[in-house]
Amino acid sequence: MNTTPAIAPSGPNADQIDYWNGDAGERWARYQDKLDAMLQPFSGAVLDLAAVKPGERILDIGCGCGATTFDAAARAGATGRALGVDISAPMVARAKARAEALGSSAEFTLADAATHDFGADRFDLFVSRFGIMFFAEPAAAFAHMKKALAPSGRLAFVCWRPMKENGWVSVPFFAALPHLPPQEPPVPGAPGPFAFADPERFRGILKEAGYRDIEIDPFDATLSLGRGEDPVGAALEQTLEIGPLSRALKELPDDTKTRAAEAVREELARHVTGGEVRLGGAVWLVSARA
Ligand SMILES: C[S@@+](CC[C@H](N)C(=O)[O-])C[C@H]1O[C@@H](n2cnc3c(N)ncnc32)[C@H](O)[C@@H]1O
Repeated sequence: MNTTPAIAPSGPNADQIDYWNGDAGERWARYQDKLDAMLQPFSGAVLDLAAVKPGERILDIGCGCGATTFDAAARAGATGRALGVDISAPMVARAKARAEALGSSAEFTLADAATHDFGADRFDLFVSRFGIMFFAEPAAAFAHMKKALAPSGRLAFVCWRPMKENGWVSVPFFAALPHLPPQEPPVPGAPGPFAFADPERFRGILKEAGYRDIEIDPFDATLSLGRGEDPVGAALEQTLEIGPLSRALKELPDDTKTRAAEAVREELARHVTGGEVRLGGAVWLVSARA
């Protein structure tokens, strides 16, 4: 698979362009089917919130491997249009291959949504499943994107609530913690999965970017981290490869990783129900108008 960034890591989001074109993007592309199965409740929720109508033109921001773009394209129908935009070459490559395999009309473009010139394109709707929390300058990014939104346009996003409310991340992370070197406390609001954990911060950013009628509501779902013959093994593998724990373990010696993995395995085994490892996911559903 391609590991070379196909867009240069430049501008305010250079670090994220670098990150999502390296191991992280490769792993998301490799685990696409498992992650989509796990995150499906949130695609459904955000597209229901968006109330897509046939014929609408939709932009999926930070579309990754395209799950939400495909759903949006299906809902918009033959007269509509769904375009996914993402900075990750391996994930966009996966999305394009899936579009062909699925016979979907969804289109994909490799670009930084915060700076990309959408030209004469105008969209009725912006959607995103966890693709909007990584901008270094979020108010400027949302203001820039607003230029591509029709005057009557709207947005529907889903983003994570704080890590402590998200058992699927916090349970494995805190099980591993005694085996990790002291961890730097996360910088509140820094680009990353929990950048918009504080809904009032996100509301302020969208307001500053010129959006109105901003609504932010909590939504909870039970997530399946592992299933099949060895649900705990499957959940452990995914947890060690994707997300905050994988980042914390990255540079550590192998014996430390092994001890941490054992502690995580024991903890995950406590959360098996109905043949699956099930843990909670907690998000904000966000809507606004141009
Ligand atoms: C957590 S993943 C979510 C992917 C996908 N929406 C999903 O739910 O499977 C975050 C995505 O945002 C993308 N992303 C981050 N910053 C971006 C930017 N400035 N412009 C476009 N995409 C961006 C990443 O490359 C990555 O694919």
